[in-house]
Amino acid sequence: MGKIVILTGAGISAESGLGTFRDEGGLWSQHRIEDVATPEGFARDPALVHGFYNARRIQAAKAQPNAAHLALARLQRDFPSEVVIVTQNVDNLHEAGGAENVLHMHGTLAGALCATCDHRWTAPPEMSVGEVCPACTAPSARPDVVWFGEMPYHMDLIYDHLAGATVFASIGTSGQVYPAAAFVHEAALAGARTVELNLDPSDGASRYDEVILGPATQIVPQWVDGLLTHS
Ligand code: OAD
Repeated sequence: MGKIVILTGAGISAESGLGTFRDEGGLWSQHRIEDVATPEGFARDPALVHGFYNARRIQAAKAQPNAAHLALARLQRDFPSEVVIVTQNVDNLHEAGGAENVLHMHGTLAGALCATCDHRWTAPPEMSVGEVCPACTAPSARPDVVWFGEMPYHMDLIYDHLAGATVFASIGTSGQVYPAAAFVHEAALAGARTVELNLDPSDGASRYDEVILGPATQIVPQWVDGLLTHS
């Protein structure tokens, strides 16, 4: 069938107990983006930012992959063609569910990054202000997550995959954050069939060839079963 490129967002982890950003009561209704998800916010109040990500890291470490994560891992394992998972999520639930080669375009809670020399290492469960980089010894450790105003990771590779996609699926994302929100356009230009799987239609739902609505733990396994049956 060719290459399947799958983009996931916070909605795929919602039924694992991890909050989304923009749903009612979501993270961005409790915290200001400019305070906790920008380089300027970190420079202003690193303790606040570390506190935000420490809480999320501890919560994510307790979460279990759900039926949607498991179904995508099964698709990657059993489908005869290449299945690429690109996630905006900073949890590791795709990997915990058995997926491989997951492209974390917004980074990961499991990582620490030196703001001085870009060295990366495994984050402790709780990071603290002034933590020292093991490579250059600068006291400038930060979470290895992409903040607003920063370039997401793996973009060249992701665009290469989109250019070769025959199917593009977007799962559990509101389609409000670029560049991920434009991936459907790139994939369609490449001739891919596009499908959105989401609880509610996203802002960009009209751009997709097909929209499947429902909770990820129900609709993703069904969609995967369909692909495996027809492969
Ligand atoms: P959002 O919170 O913006 O959107 C979550 C989407 O998941 C919504 O469209 C919901 O309808 C859907 N959803 C909720 N529960 C679901 C369920 N059980 N099954 C299926 N869908 C469900 O989260 P994202 O689109 O991932 O970036 O947000 C994108 C980026 O914005 C994040 O990576 C983060 C945030 O700011 C950064 O921090 C850089």
